[in-house]
Amino acid sequence: MERTLIIIKPDGVQRALVGEVIRRFEARGLRIAGLKLMQISRELAEAHYAEHRGKPFFEGTVKFITSGPVVVMCLEGPNAIAAARQTMGATRPHEAAPGSIRADFGLDVSRNIVHGSDGPETAARELALYFKPEELISYQRAGDVWLKE
Ligand code: RTP
Ligand code: MG
Repeated sequence: MERTLIIIKPDGVQRALVGEVIRRFEARGLRIAGLKLMQISRELAEAHYAEHRGKPFFEGTVKFITSGPVVVMCLEGPNAIAAARQTMGATRPHEAAPGSIRADFGLDVSRNIVHGSDGPETAARELALYFKPEELISYQRAGDVWLKE
């Protein structure tokens, strides 16, 4: 069982894609362990994108992620990190596979609708940035027995 941090970025919220994005992850079988609407502060955005500090797109990316409300969630499931990245599609929407969120709803790398953690260490670091431990809930859904042997 793995956990990953997903953010529906300001473009996803403004384009009223929150339900559609969550639907795709849920339909795949990923379980929501934490969920909230929030506005990301500059301080939090800079911590989130720390690995990109110094790159040409850093400032624009921080400005964008803080420009409006976002939906942050913790998704849980077997191979949740890789599965969520696959459902999201490649970073650049024009390179993302058809059927992925980024391909189906985007055109530009700086407006790619969703963020997802890219590995186990990143997921743990990012989840701690956005959620207190008690805000993440482990539970079983009735249908989970039909998703995994
Ligand atoms: P994310 O972190 O948002 O899930 O995206 P990712 O892993 O697929 O891509 P990453 O390399 O971590 O880039 C983080 C975000 O920075 C913006 N970006 N803009 N203008 C550019 O060339 C550029 N490159 C990256 C995107 O919003 C990307 O999602
Ligand atoms: Mg990334």
